[in-house]
Amino acid sequence: MEIIILPDAEAASATAARLVARQVLEKPDCVLGLATGSTPRRLYAELARLHREDHLSFAQVSSFNLDEYVGLHAEHPASYHRFMAENFFDHVDLAPERRHIPDGMAADIPQHCAEYETRIVAAGGIDLQILGLGTDGHLGFNEPGSSLASRTRIKTLTPQTRSDNARFFSSETDVPHHVITMGLGTIMATRMCLLLAFGKTKARAVAQSCEGPVTASVPGSLLQFHPRAKVLLDEEAAAELTHADYYRWVYNNKPAWQKDQ
Ligand code: F6R
Repeated sequence: MEIIILPDAEAASATAARLVARQVLEKPDCVLGLATGSTPRRLYAELARLHREDHLSFAQVSSFNLDEYVGLHAEHPASYHRFMAENFFDHVDLAPERRHIPDGMAADIPQHCAEYETRIVAAGGIDLQILGLGTDGHLGFNEPGSSLASRTRIKTLTPQTRSDNARFFSSETDVPHHVITMGLGTIMATRMCLLLAFGKTKARAVAQSCEGPVTASVPGSLLQFHPRAKVLLDEEAAAELTHADYYRWVYNNKPAWQKDQ
C-alpha cells in the first residue's frame, strides 16, 4: 500500500488522473473499474479535460462500475447510471457497449450479479480500479462485516451510509436500503487499486484502513493485502495517520521516474 498525501483534493485528483491516463496510454483497451460519489468527481472532470484538450482517448477502454442502488431506474436522478453519464461518460469517447454498471432493476439479482462477474472475466479482468471510502470504512458498498472473499451481490446499507448518501436524494427516507455491489474478492482481483479519500469525515476510516488491523469490520483495511494499491489523500483525510510524515518523506523523495508508477 502506497500512501500519497497531497495538499488538497484538487492535487490528489490530478495525480489520480495522471495514473489513469498512463494506464490508458499504455494499454488503450484496458479495463477500468469505476466508482461514484463525491470523491471521484474531480478525477472524472480532469480525465474529461485530458480527453478534450490532450486527445486522451477511451475509445477502446471497457469499464465496470462498482455498484448501483436496487430499485432505482437508470434515469433516476440519484442512480449511478445518471451519475456516470453526467460526470464522465457524456464527456469522453468510451463506447456505450463497453460501459457496465450493475442494473438496479434486474429481475433476477443473483443471476445478474453472476453475469456481471462473468463479464469482468470475459473482458480480461480489471486493470485499474478507482475506489472511494465510506465513513464506516466500506469499499464499494461492502459494509463492515462483508466477507473478505465476496463477489458481486446484493448488500444492505448501514444506517450511517444511508444518512451519508441522503444528500443525493430529496430525503433520507428515499435512500434505498439495498444495493448491488462488486464484492471485496472482486476488488482484490483487480490489478491495481487507486483509493481516494478527502476531507476530515474520512480521517478515521483512512487511519483504520491503512494502519489498523486487517478486518472485515473495516473493509478498506483489506487493501493492505492488495499487491498494488495506492491511497491518495488530502491533508484532512490524512489527519489521523500515525506515520503521515514518513509517507510524505517517501513520496517526496521518490526518483522522478517512479512517481507515476
Ligand atoms: C461509490 C462507492 C462508495 C463510495 C463511498 C464514498 O460507487 O462505491 O464506496 O466511494 O461511499 O462516497 P463519497 O465519495 O460520496 O464520500
